[in-house]
Amino acid sequence: MATILDGKALAAKVKAEVREQAASFRQAPGLAVILVGDDPASRIYVNGKKRDCAECGFTSTEYHFDADVTMETLLALVDRLNRDPSVDGILCQLPLPAGLDEEKILLSIDPAKDVDCFHPYNVGRMLIGDSVFQPCTPAGVMRMLEEANISPDGKRCVVIGRSNIVGKPMGILLLQQNGTVTYCHSHTPNLAELTRQANILVTAVGKVGLITADMVKEGAVVVDVAMNRDEAGKLCGDVEFASVAEKAGYITPVPGGCGPMTRAMLMVNTLAAARLHGKE
Ligand code: GUN
Repeated sequence: MATILDGKALAAKVKAEVREQAASFRQAPGLAVILVGDDPASRIYVNGKKRDCAECGFTSTEYHFDADVTMETLLALVDRLNRDPSVDGILCQLPLPAGLDEEKILLSIDPAKDVDCFHPYNVGRMLIGDSVFQPCTPAGVMRMLEEANISPDGKRCVVIGRSNIVGKPMGILLLQQNGTVTYCHSHTPNLAELTRQANILVTAVGKVGLITADMVKEGAVVVDVAMNRDEAGKLCGDVEFASVAEKAGYITPVPGGCGPMTRAMLMVNTLAAARLHGKE
């Protein structure tokens, strides 16, 4: 039976560490959160991020707009927040409603306040292994592996998914720790043949039941980044948890695995931003 990688417990520990460090800062770190429209999932995520800020002793300010807000209004707000010294991190909750240019907004955020690590400048710095920020979800996975003393060094790592937010940077971080990385995606033939070779398997697809026990190597580390709902409406990932847990060495649950760690790493990045801005 696999050891459960408990993201919820580790996130609490990481946030406690962040809180302790922030307490000695000359000024509290500040996060600005921009939310556009009324997507219920985005509302839940934003509320969670504001709660995390309060837990860590950070200030947080929410800027909420109707879905018909103009690009000019949003760009003017980002410009103001870029110049506001009380703001260390700026997060624009994605996805933005149709008609708004997501890329243009993300490009307008000062890279020194880009706590999501979505700006191409920070993505480039991460790629060469020289970044202040790391993208929250992949960074959270790396922290979970580290906590469990699992090193990617010399391991075969298979990442399923190639999004700019999760899949691509996940592979880069594993590579930087000397993993041998294979990316799989919707055009990959014989997925199971590749996943069966993985010592560390990370799936970030969004498809219920994608990973079954026959696709997993005995003793593998299985990390499930997805957040889906099954036919009964219950939260689940890409992995058939019960059967895969019998075969894997380590496994992350959904919920309670990667999700809480993503949020904790946002706090780590906001603390790093405040340090960058001389608030220590
Ligand atoms: N939407 C889903 N995940 C994220 C995230 O990590 N950051 C932002 N800004 N939006 C998201």
